[in-house]
Amino acid sequence: MLDDITRISSEFDSALASANTAAALDDLRVHYFGRKGGLIPALFSRLKEVPKEQKKDAGDALNKLRDRLESELKEKSERVTAEESARKQSRDIIDVTLPARIPHLGHLHPVTIIRREMETIFSEMGYSLDPGPEVESDWYNFEALNFTPDHPARDTQDTFFLDADAPPRGEGSGRLPYLLRTHTSNVQIRSMENHTPPVKVLSCGRVYRRDEITMRRSPMFHQAEGFLVDKGIHIGHLRATLEHFIKRLFGADSKMRMRPSFFPFTEPSAEVDMSCVFCKGAGCGTCSHTGWMEILGCGMIHPQVLRNVGIDPEEWSGFAFGLGLDRCAMIKFDIPNIRTLFENDLRVLQQF
Ligand code: DAH
Repeated sequence: MLDDITRISSEFDSALASANTAAALDDLRVHYFGRKGGLIPALFSRLKEVPKEQKKDAGDALNKLRDRLESELKEKSERVTAEESARKQSRDIIDVTLPARIPHLGHLHPVTIIRREMETIFSEMGYSLDPGPEVESDWYNFEALNFTPDHPARDTQDTFFLDADAPPRGEGSGRLPYLLRTHTSNVQIRSMENHTPPVKVLSCGRVYRRDEITMRRSPMFHQAEGFLVDKGIHIGHLRATLEHFIKRLFGADSKMRMRPSFFPFTEPSAEVDMSCVFCKGAGCGTCSHTGWMEILGCGMIHPQVLRNVGIDPEEWSGFAFGLGLDRCAMIKFDIPNIRTLFENDLRVLQQF
């Protein structure tokens, strides 16, 4: 009996040392003290078989063993349970000093950046925004803008005509045929038809021309069209508006100049150059050593265009201008090839 007590005692020591979880310690407790088959109760029940003269020693030793095992088990269980709950708590704690995880944000396309900047600049001057339709009729895209059916200027805007109910090109002077708009100037007509002056509108959107893809050209590109009709509007208003716009978009040190030009829907018409953003007018490879970059077309709205939408040119006058948003993005972000804008290569887009 005494031998068993000694053996169980030392077995317990190593079992206790290797039980390091609350669950393992509980198993140990059942193994030693469980009512059914626990080693300690089993020893107690064997006491009655022990010869009388050894009973006292055996009983003392057994009591001691039980007390020691009980207290050591209790002490370690309490410690391990406390450690486990502390560890769990620290896992649940929110460390408010940790830097926040910033979610991955998308990027705006360079053309979108330019469009939004332009819309902001003109909204601040009181312009309304109206993108207008991309599928358009001959009337709005050409005829009402003073391009007569055989007008040679139509050839400069090689057009995608749409099949649906569309007579052959050049025929029909009504609202047909349908086409993909070649410029955003269609919005001039649509806006003036729907609003009595004074009107101030900026229109940004896609336009289409049957062009080969080159470094500078694409069959789909983006334009912005602005126009204003009011009483007593003259070319000075146009110039001041464009100067303000160019300085806002390309920097306060930008300069502009106007060259006479021709558009069917404006008279007089001009093309506007701005000082090269790369060399500041000194001359460099990008501006062909002229110091200037062509940026937009503009003019005073032709009296016939006003008449076409029922506005009396004796009473009202206005100006209009149009420019390529892709070209602006290429200048502003120094992108040499227009295709870069439409290939949607993430390595490119992530830079903006
Ligand atoms: N619509 C012309 C184009 O696409 C650009 C333009 C020129 C617009 C002169 C205008 C303007 O409003 O006055 O080539």
